[in-house]
Amino acid sequence: MKDLVFSGVQPTSDIHLGNYIGALKQWTAIQNNHRCLFCIVDLHAITVPQEPKELRENILDAAAAYLAAGIDPKRSTIFVQSEVPEHAELGWILGTVTKMGELERMTQFKDKSGKGGAERASAGLFTYPALMAADILLYDTSAVPVGEDQMQHLELTRVIARRFNERFGNTFQVPAALIQKHGARIMSLQDPSKKMSKSDPSELSKILLSDDADTIRKKIMRAVTDTEGGVSYDPDRKPAIANLMTIFHHATGKTMKDIEGEFEGKGYGDFKKALAEALIEHMAPVTKSYHEYRDNPNALHKLLDAGRETAQALATEKMKLVRQRVGLGR
Ligand code: AMP
Ligand code: TRP
Repeated sequence: MKDLVFSGVQPTSDIHLGNYIGALKQWTAIQNNHRCLFCIVDLHAITVPQEPKELRENILDAAAAYLAAGIDPKRSTIFVQSEVPEHAELGWILGTVTKMGELERMTQFKDKSGKGGAERASAGLFTYPALMAADILLYDTSAVPVGEDQMQHLELTRVIARRFNERFGNTFQVPAALIQKHGARIMSLQDPSKKMSKSDPSELSKILLSDDADTIRKKIMRAVTDTEGGVSYDPDRKPAIANLMTIFHHATGKTMKDIEGEFEGKGYGDFKKALAEALIEHMAPVTKSYHEYRDNPNALHKLLDAGRETAQALATEKMKLVRQRVGLGR
């Protein structure tokens, strides 16, 4: 059997360029030679408060975004996490082999618990990595394509898999993370020291999959640059321009060297203009097909129904083994 690839995005607000480059674009390339499951992780989304009506809309938005990015439902399975209850069940079980100290070290928990701190964060936000481990281990996943911010969760998933296997006998495949060289961490257009993030209140900080050409142009032209001039790739000294070059690289396929050559002796203004047009050209078909898929919810429901069937069959099998190994039930 082909190696299985699993990944997911939370259905919380709009998908942005960081998600697209860091995750979705990578997924579409992988589906050509791997069996793939792409999940819409709604149980993870509710670890911070969600408006129920919006959550349901966001689930369909995510499905449309997966398709628009190029996920081919004939080759890959797209499904909703909560519709396969084994995810929650295995998440609970894995929570019992995960240590509090391990969860306390997760930077995403520290970031997301925010000002209120651990005292006010939900217990679900704390145990989030055990559920993520369940998503991955339930399908004997060998590789998980994600952005760099998920590396720590992936490491913990590997620890949990090994610990479970040692305690209960070999049950889970230990998965590897797949992280790209360029684009694993797209930064905010307004502050290159922060990652581009759904939760950033600044509209100018992120480009959304649903943005039209004028909006993309405006956001790129207003992006911050570095005090030191010149279009050259040096993430430490010139983080803002390195970020814009990474986006340019993904929009055009050009290498950093090509880009440096093309803009030698030119200013940031020229570079930004070229970047805006290249990005608009690259994103226009994606945005157009996003709206087409999104305007046909019946087709999305059908697709998610089929995806659930496929995922459910695999999950049912695996959980029988897990319950037996742990000694649950009779
Ligand atoms: P999330 O929005 O947290 O559900 O993330 C979904 C996927 O997008 C994960 O694989 C993340 O690692 C990836 N991702 C999120 N933000 C970025 C970013 N700024 N740059 C690159 N990848 C990202
Ligand atoms: N935690 C991931 C994020 O916020 C989303 C996610 C949940 C995920 N389960 C997963 C990603 C399993 C990869 C595999 O981006």
